[in-house]
Amino acid sequence: MCGIVGYLGERDSLPIILNGLKRLEYRGYDSSGVAVYNGSKIVSCKSKGKISKLEKQLQKRKNISGGIGIGHTRWATHGEPNDVNAHPQFSNSKKLCLVHNGIIENYSTIKQKLIKEGFSFDSETDTEVLVNLIEYVKHKKSVKLGEAVQIALNQVIGAYALAVIDNEKPDEIVVAKLGSPLCIGIGEDEHFIGSDVTPFIEYTKNVVYLEDGELAIIRNHKDTFFRKISDNSLISPTINKLELSLDKIEKQGFDHYMLKEIYEQPKAIKDTLRGRLNVSKGIIKMSGMDDYINKFLSAKKITIIACGTSWHSGLVAEYMFEKIARIPVEVEYASEFRYRDPVIESDDIVIAISQSGETADTLAAIKLAKSRGAFVYGICNVVGSSIARESDSGSYTHAGPEIGVASTKAFTTQMTILYMMAVKLSKSKGVISEKLYHKYILEISNIDKKVHTALSSNNVIKKIAKEFLKATNCLYLGRGYNFPIALEGALKLKEISYIHAEGYPAAEMKHGPIALIDENMPTIVIATNKINYDKIVSNIQEIKSRKGKIFAIVSKGDKEVKEVADHVIEVPHSIESITPFITVVPLQLLSYHIAVMLGKDVDQPRNLAKSVTVE
Ligand code: G6P
Repeated sequence: MCGIVGYLGERDSLPIILNGLKRLEYRGYDSSGVAVYNGSKIVSCKSKGKISKLEKQLQKRKNISGGIGIGHTRWATHGEPNDVNAHPQFSNSKKLCLVHNGIIENYSTIKQKLIKEGFSFDSETDTEVLVNLIEYVKHKKSVKLGEAVQIALNQVIGAYALAVIDNEKPDEIVVAKLGSPLCIGIGEDEHFIGSDVTPFIEYTKNVVYLEDGELAIIRNHKDTFFRKISDNSLISPTINKLELSLDKIEKQGFDHYMLKEIYEQPKAIKDTLRGRLNVSKGIIKMSGMDDYINKFLSAKKITIIACGTSWHSGLVAEYMFEKIARIPVEVEYASEFRYRDPVIESDDIVIAISQSGETADTLAAIKLAKSRGAFVYGICNVVGSSIARESDSGSYTHAGPEIGVASTKAFTTQMTILYMMAVKLSKSKGVISEKLYHKYILEISNIDKKVHTALSSNNVIKKIAKEFLKATNCLYLGRGYNFPIALEGALKLKEISYIHAEGYPAAEMKHGPIALIDENMPTIVIATNKINYDKIVSNIQEIKSRKGKIFAIVSKGDKEVKEVADHVIEVPHSIESITPFITVVPLQLLSYHIAVMLGKDVDQPRNLAKSVTVE
């Protein structure tokens, strides 16, 4: 949900900001803009569309360079995507210039108040209201920029990560955060700002993650002040060392990030298991859990909260925890949970799953669960993210940066963590035999190899993808562990190809979706299950007798489904609980190839953003 970048130092800020914006483009890409102090005033350039369009505009401009600047890539909330609504936004005097990620909920009241004070507005954004509020406070109270920002933010309701520069103070950037992410890279006599660390990883490894309710006045060759927005008191920040390297965020020869990330899954799973799974000793070591094992053992139930693809991994976990560890599980959309007055008790465990660790609804749901006394276990991919910091304990997925908007390797690594948790709990609870426990451990250690084998069906899938190019609707069916995979397959198709798709438990098909079936509607059936295999074969027959086309994912060597399906994709054999790791791979590849063949923007599909930091 919008990306913000900033630079303050001896170099020309423009190329650093542009490069940073490209790295943050996954956060929103409907318009973008930059503003730089060029030695006499702040000049800006904005453009509707992607950063490449902004770059073209900038080629026609000569006066945009200087050592201090800010940039923004937008995912529209207030006001349609156009040049005027793009950020940065100037104050009426043109002296202050601001970029913002988040939503100012009371912007309309503030706007009316400012209009009465003689302010006027060009855009429809809440951001233009905020920058003018800061200007109003600055003059009314005769305070410096930092203090004006602090006072203004105390009048604001909503979420923000912002960076503001001032014509009258061209050696200073003021940044603040509440609810949206913001970090500061600290170099030698230079500072970088980013919604995440990717804009500056090649320049510095030292980073401060701003906490909610904090503000920083960044100045070169002088001290940077970190203050609390509520009372202006000073705080000392923690400087973290970055471990991320540049090559991890590049495409490495793949046409798209999504394809690269699909192919990275065996390695990502291995990385997630590293140091945690010891097959010879029969140990699953998860320090975040080991320290709190009694809490897990005394919990009457586990509630899982997440959004999007992460919610689907939560659904798979429901099967894992209940079948393997015999613990009741509820899986909730974080956005519903937070407003539902859920029954959460002090010995409950809440597991929050999030790739980005920044999803606003998940973060708010965690805060609610904690306020009711629950113990929150966070499963995040992005190290140091807000959800990771807000959780009581947790595990990182170690999938590496996921840049394609459609989540792939984050999903399989989330399931890897959840599977280990379920098996570990089953052992600690004593609800599993030694033999079965060791079987599970062995199975976990082989997931990456099976996922690798599943990837080898890529060429078959590429051919099959052609059959979907005229489809406007698709149905995905699965049962048990593979019902959530049907949902995830349908979501992947919707996200990047814009073909409408629904996932259903196979048996539910008779209660509605069957009415839609005709020769134009493809059905993708996950038919690897041993349990209920015959029932799935019957479902396939029911679809065939209504002229529906069947694309089935089957275990290698399958005969029965092969006879009735129009196309089959084979995946390696495995025990039931491991199948989701393997069956999701062809579905990811299928949606990828369909989207590419339809000429869609796979990595940056319309209207979506990778990190949803607004409600
Ligand atoms: C967005 C992304 C999805 C993601 C969801 C939850 O909608 O486009 O890919 O699954 O947010 O994000 P999270 O970072 O919390 O897993």
